[in-house]
Amino acid sequence: MTVTELMSRAPEPRLAPAAAFADAMSRFATGVVLVTCWIDGRPWGMTVSAFASVSAEPPTILVSLASASASAQAITDEQRFGVSILERGQIAAARHGSLPGASKFIERFVERGGAGTALPAVAGALAHLDCEVIELHEVADHTVFFGRVRSVRLGSAGEPLVYADRAYRALTPAFTPRRNGASDAL
Ligand SMILES: Cc1cc2nc3c(=O)[nH]c(=O)nc-3n(C[C@H](O)[C@H](O)[C@H](O)COP(=O)(O)O)c2cc1C
Repeated sequence: MTVTELMSRAPEPRLAPAAAFADAMSRFATGVVLVTCWIDGRPWGMTVSAFASVSAEPPTILVSLASASASAQAITDEQRFGVSILERGQIAAARHGSLPGASKFIERFVERGGAGTALPAVAGALAHLDCEVIELHEVADHTVFFGRVRSVRLGSAGEPLVYADRAYRALTPAFTPRRNGASDAL
């Protein structure tokens, strides 16, 4: 019997139960972004928390999207996407972009102008990044898109919308002065 045959008969390695995994992840606080693209010439946005900075030079980020989502399919075709970082008052946009099975056209949430050229940007977002896909990887039922950041628009200063324990939240300081006066800033 070959090694491949032996491996195909081996029992599945033990996996953490899905519910325990979801409970653990619910304890991880994230910001909330709308990942944007154009679909049929109209702005479209999906609510995402799986967003991370990868590198500053060159500026690179990643987002992980369900491969079956309309967003993942459009971004795979167009090879570009936008990321609008939501402000604490933008729960309506986050809810709109996360309704399962619903259309996610976002005309009422976006800045005017730029149709078809720049990526749609949520009006009033803390910041918006226009990205070009440099790599994508299908992992389980998601596609991880790595984006090179082509341009950044900073909105007004404000506080981020936060998602933790399955609810939208706002920040409160967890303030413990550091003895040597050092800053926690990166
Ligand atoms: C706060 C929050 C964060 C989310 N983060 C992600 C994410 O990182 N990746 C993802 O694929 N879906 C994420 N979702 C789910 C999608 O927004 C939602 O399932 C998707 O838009 C469903 O749309 P569809 O039925 O059109 O595919 C998140 C939902 C919420 C409420």
